[in-house]
Amino acid sequence: MEESEVQSRQVDVCMLRPRVFVTRALPEPGPSILQKYCQVEFWSKDMPPSKSTIIQKAKVVDGFVSFLTDSFDEEVINACDHVKVISQVAVGYDNVDITAATAKNIIVTNTPEVLTETTADFAFALLLATARRVAEADRYVRAGSWKVPWAIDMMVGQDVYQQTLGIIGLGRIGRAVARRAQGFGMKILYFDVTPASDLEKELGIQAVSLDRLLRESDFITLHVPLTPKTQGMIGYQELQKMKPSACLINTSRGAVIDQNALVRALKEDIIAYAGLDVFAEEPISANHPLLFLENVTLAPHIASASTQTRSKMGVMAVENCLAVLRGKIPPNPVNADLAKKLLTSTNAKSNT
Ligand code: DGY
Repeated sequence: MEESEVQSRQVDVCMLRPRVFVTRALPEPGPSILQKYCQVEFWSKDMPPSKSTIIQKAKVVDGFVSFLTDSFDEEVINACDHVKVISQVAVGYDNVDITAATAKNIIVTNTPEVLTETTADFAFALLLATARRVAEADRYVRAGSWKVPWAIDMMVGQDVYQQTLGIIGLGRIGRAVARRAQGFGMKILYFDVTPASDLEKELGIQAVSLDRLLRESDFITLHVPLTPKTQGMIGYQELQKMKPSACLINTSRGAVIDQNALVRALKEDIIAYAGLDVFAEEPISANHPLLFLENVTLAPHIASASTQTRSKMGVMAVENCLAVLRGKIPPNPVNADLAKKLLTSTNAKSNT
C-alpha cells in the first residue's frame, strides 16, 4: 500500500471516531480510555471555557465530558448540532437544562455513588472542624497569637458526641453522613420529601418535619440537590428557628442557602457556626462578608476531592460517554427514559 493511501485510511478511521470535547483537565486513566475510541479535545486552561467556546464546540462534537462549572442552558443545548451525550463529571447536574437536553434527544449522565463516602467524610470533617474551631485555631497559632501556655477558656467550641444532628436530604450522601454520626453517638433526625422508613432502624434515624428538625438540631447538614424547590430553602426565617448554638453545614450547593440571610444570622448570633464548602457564586469573592467571620469554616468546593474518588469520577464519566456514543444505555443516565427510548431503538436498528 502506498504511503499516501495508508495516510488517507488513517484519516478515514480518524474521521469515523466520534468527537468529544472535555471541558477541563481530567485525571487519568479517564483521558487515556477516551482517547482510544474518540477524537478528543481537552480544554487545558485553568479557567473553564466560556459559553461562546462551548457553543462553538457544540456545533461540531458528538459528545461533551462536562463539569459543574459549565452552563449547558437552553441556548447552549440549542446550539448542539449532533451532540448525543453530555457526560457530567459530578453527581449534581444543576448546570444542565435537562428539559432542553431531553427535547434535543441528548442523553445527560452523571457520576453518583463513587463520591458518596468521600463527600460524607468531608461533610463530617467540616462539622467537626467548625464545632471545634480547628481552622480558627490553626490561624491563631500561625499568627503567633498563642502566648499563654494553656487556658481553660481558650478556643472552646461545641461537643459533637451525643448531640443532635439534623440531616436535610436523605439520599446516598445523607445516609453516609448518618452512618458516621452513629459512631459519634448522635441523635439523628432527618427531613426528606420521601421518608425512608426501611432505613430508620439500621441508621438510627428519625423522620421529622423540617420545622422540628430546625428547632431541635445542634448540627444541621444539607444534602439536597439544587432545584427550583430547594433554591433558598434555608432563609432567614428557617435560620431563626434554629438554636442559637446551632451549626449549619453545607456540602450540597451554595444556592440552597440564602447567603445574605446566613451572614445576617451569624452576625446577629441567631446561629453560632457555619461550615461551608459551596457558595452561591464560586469562587466566592475575596471581600465577601463570610470571609470575615471567625465562626465560619470555609472550603473551595472540595467535598469529593480525594485522589481516588476524582479518578473514579473521571472513569465513570468516560464510560457513560462511550456507552452513549456506541448506542448503548449508559450506566448512569439522568434522563433515563430518553436513554431507554433512544438507545434501545438505536440497538434495535443496528440489530436488523
Ligand atoms: C458533585 O459531584 O456534584 C460535587 O459537587 C462535585 O464533586
